[in-house]
Amino acid sequence: MKKVLVTRKLIKENSVRISKIFNVRLNDNDKIFSSDELLKYSKGCDGILTFPTSTLDKDFIMALSDSVKIISNYAVGFGNIDIEAAKSKGIIVTNTPDVLTDATADISILLLLGASRRAYEGRKAAEKQNWKWSSDYLIGKQMTGKKLGILGMGRIGRAVAKRARGFDMEIHYHNRKRLSPDLEHGAIYHEDINDLFNNSEFLSINCPGSKSTENLINEETLKKFPDGVVIANAARGEVINDEAMIKAMKSGKVFALGLDVYRGEPKINQKYLELNNLFLLPHLGSATIKTRLSMGNRAIDNLDNFLNKSIEPTDRVN
Ligand code: DGY
Repeated sequence: MKKVLVTRKLIKENSVRISKIFNVRLNDNDKIFSSDELLKYSKGCDGILTFPTSTLDKDFIMALSDSVKIISNYAVGFGNIDIEAAKSKGIIVTNTPDVLTDATADISILLLLGASRRAYEGRKAAEKQNWKWSSDYLIGKQMTGKKLGILGMGRIGRAVAKRARGFDMEIHYHNRKRLSPDLEHGAIYHEDINDLFNNSEFLSINCPGSKSTENLINEETLKKFPDGVVIANAARGEVINDEAMIKAMKSGKVFALGLDVYRGEPKINQKYLELNNLFLLPHLGSATIKTRLSMGNRAIDNLDNFLNKSIEPTDRVN
């Protein structure tokens, strides 16, 4: 049997399945291993099933045992892995697209609603039981009929658009490439990202995290938005320059922000915590049992196809 290291805990059904088809070292205690530990445990392994919480950088990949031929990432994003270094070492890297699209799009909508309807302040007031209903109490912004900008119109961005149409929103988007009309469903493409920002009363960030998307939302680009924009980030924390965002949230340029992801998570820029116009979640985008099981199965399929069946994995990213 081929040998595989799993770097974090899997859902039980996934552990049972992978144990049947590989000689596997599981991590049921869910300890976060150091790079040295990961290098030690992966010695002699044919593959690694890893998670976005483990950073497999160039040094790590170069130090990896030559026996490792595939790294299967339990996520659609793969910014945690140096895929070029892996390629240069002949290691295949795979991800888990499709299966988390709906769950993550749901969270994007939750962030937009939670931020725009002041859910954080509402929760605090309801808990304290000292609030009084009145005609102008905790007034938020309504999504109905507004312009929604989507930054990154891949699978998740398109699923956000589908949901937002239920709110009669006008969909605008920026993407590396314009979509075909059957995928656009009437959404308005902006080749220039600043045009998208100009047209976004609400913005949903759904682009991949990478060098080219880091700090895309910064002091200069924030000026392009209409005053009082609501922004939601379910992609990667690095897309937002936090200092610039905090300033814009204080000035009212940004009415409210919804975050599921953070730069250096689980840490958060402490200045955010002084703000009331922030709705926070701890990276729950894909956190439903159906989705997590499917992510596990997809990550296992990629290993199984390549190592046991000699089939090129469809989810190869490098
Ligand atoms: C992903 O798949 O990239 C998600 O962020 C994991 O929850």
